Amino acid sequence: MAIATESSIERSSVIISVFGTTPGIGKTVVAINLAAGLANEGYKVCLADLDLQFGDVLNYLKLSSTNTIAGAQRALLDHPDKFNVRDFLIDYTNGALNFSILPAPLYVFDAYQTDVHLVEEIIGQLTYFDFVVLDLNSMFSALNLAMLDMSTVINYLGVIDFLPALKNYKIGYDTLIRFEYEESKIRLVENRADSQKLIEGRDVERLLGEPFYHKLPNDYPAVNKSINAGQPLMFAAPDSRLTKSFFELVGRYINKPVTNAPELQKVSSSSGGFFSSIGKFFGF
Ligand SMILES: Nc1ncnc2c1ncn2[C@@H]1O[C@H](COP(=O)(O)OP(=O)(O)OP(=O)(O)O)[C@@H](O)[C@H]1O
Ligand SMILES: [Mg+2]
Repeated sequence: MAIATESSIERSSVIISVFGTTPGIGKTVVAINLAAGLANEGYKVCLADLDLQFGDVLNYLKLSSTNTIAGAQRALLDHPDKFNVRDFLIDYTNGALNFSILPAPLYVFDAYQTDVHLVEEIIGQLTYFDFVVLDLNSMFSALNLAMLDMSTVINYLGVIDFLPALKNYKIGYDTLIRFEYEESKIRLVENRADSQKLIEGRDVERLLGEPFYHKLPNDYPAVNKSINAGQPLMFAAPDSRLTKSFFELVGRYINKPVTNAPELQKVSSSSGGFFSSIGKFFGF
């Protein structure tokens, strides 16, 4: 499916998977801010948290729900005729901005029960959205491969700050090519690109033989503020270079420049942040 023209976007659902081969490189941060940026442009967006054991989407947005993909899978198995994926989504809303979320299972053991074919069917039923953003973990698992197959675009994320990260990024890219994903489907995105490091972005590009599609700057305070507030960067840190860079990335995906920040809702003063939510979850 082409994503390069606006008309193609209006006609069909585009699936963007956010994937990378190293944990903790910002996949979830990117998935949330992509979803928010696309929603801000007026598209109907669903963000599916497919990091099934350790999903963070709800935590990062300070949301809670018993609706999860685990419940969706059970319902699809038990009553396929009555199954409606909408019953398992929750909404993130801030002012006029809204996007849907398919949350990860609440319990790690639910992730063990995952059936790749059922997840394929569930994600396939999200096609009434303009964009479906998939937050994946960093494994070449059967589930992730099935999701990459379904994706229109693979936002292949890396933080290339030391040699093992470079090795993982290169191996991951070569593996994607070996699995015969079209090179144009794979968008190389460097995160924390301007952080102090010994490896230059252009050396990475030379090694991979491909230029980066986009480079996101390093802004730990902004990301931290966003997670603590439970709000995407455009609300929590509207003036950050990282926020602006996300607008540019969204603009590339929809093939038009995006510069306008949304009507800003005041970020509610944090009632404890991400760690306090975790504390409530574990009862401390
Ligand atoms: N552009 C950035 N600038 C500064 N810090 C960042 C940036 N992107 C991500 N981070 C930091 O990286 C941390 C990890 O991000 P995130 O949880 O999105 O990674 P992940 O790849 O989804 O991790 P996992 O593999 O555990 O799912 C964030 O909490 C934040 O502190
Ligand atoms: Mg994550």
